[in-house]
Amino acid sequence: MRLELAGKAVLVTGAASGIGLACVQAFLAEGARVGAVDRAPVPTLADGLLAVHADVTDEQSVAAAVGTVAERFGGLDVVVGCAGISGPVGTPVTETSAADFAAVMAVNVTGQFLLVKHAAPWLTAARGSIVLLASDSAFTIAPGMAAYGASKGAVVAMTRALAVDLPGVRVNCVCPSVVDTPMARGDLGAVLDDPAFPVQAPEDVADQVLYLASARSRTINGQAVLADFGVSARSGFPA
Ligand SMILES: NC(=O)c1ccc[n+]([C@@H]2O[C@H](COP(=O)([O-])OP(=O)(O)OC[C@H]3O[C@@H](n4cnc5c(N)ncnc54)[C@H](O)[C@@H]3O)[C@@H](O)[C@H]2O)c1
Repeated sequence: MRLELAGKAVLVTGAASGIGLACVQAFLAEGARVGAVDRAPVPTLADGLLAVHADVTDEQSVAAAVGTVAERFGGLDVVVGCAGISGPVGTPVTETSAADFAAVMAVNVTGQFLLVKHAAPWLTAARGSIVLLASDSAFTIAPGMAAYGASKGAVVAMTRALAVDLPGVRVNCVCPSVVDTPMARGDLGAVLDDPAFPVQAPEDVADQVLYLASARSRTINGQAVLADFGVSARSGFPA
């Protein structure tokens, strides 16, 4: 498939690790120019990479990072919001603090909102594309992850709202099941190595992101793409 992303100006948040880093590498491989935004140091990968430090929960920091990337590249064609945290995992709701809940919402929801808010003028000018990281946890979830599930459900709903709010800009989100990244390793550990447990690679998600970022998906807008090996398709019917 010809993605025709060569020369495009791309900004990826959460670019220092996991899915964000895989997206950066995939866009660079297509010949795109990439602004890699994270609060952690981004690996030096290629000449086409511009690493920018920012905390997505801080509006001034996000505005400055978007401006730095857009001004260096002369615009923005694609924005990918990967920055995220899992927060409490396996913690009953009765034991989840309001501070922990708010911290997850600040990164996973407000962070995506601020990114789109400040990138929108550039993307509107370019008739560009936004891809946000939601999760299958917006639809089906393990016990003890109320904050994370709420945040990812919000990203799915916000994706539709943004697609309506931003004429000419396509906005979609991806909803992967467990992906083998430092986040998932930290939360689940050796479970990821159980061959009976379906786990995807960061590169699988990058493939979904690049397709949605490219003009090949020009008819898809306001959608949540659930990629979970079909697990959620199965009912609880005992057969
Ligand atoms: N790993 C999974 O199983 C999985 C599944 C579905 C969705 N996701 C989502 O994919 C996205 C990427 O997750 P990952 O697994 O690659 O995690 P990761 O921990 O490997 O990478 C997340 C990156 O986000 C950055 N980040 C976190 N908070 C930030 C902030 N306030 N400002 C700037 N950068 C910040 C981190 O520094 C890190 O580089 C997240 O939104 C996550 O919720 C992950």
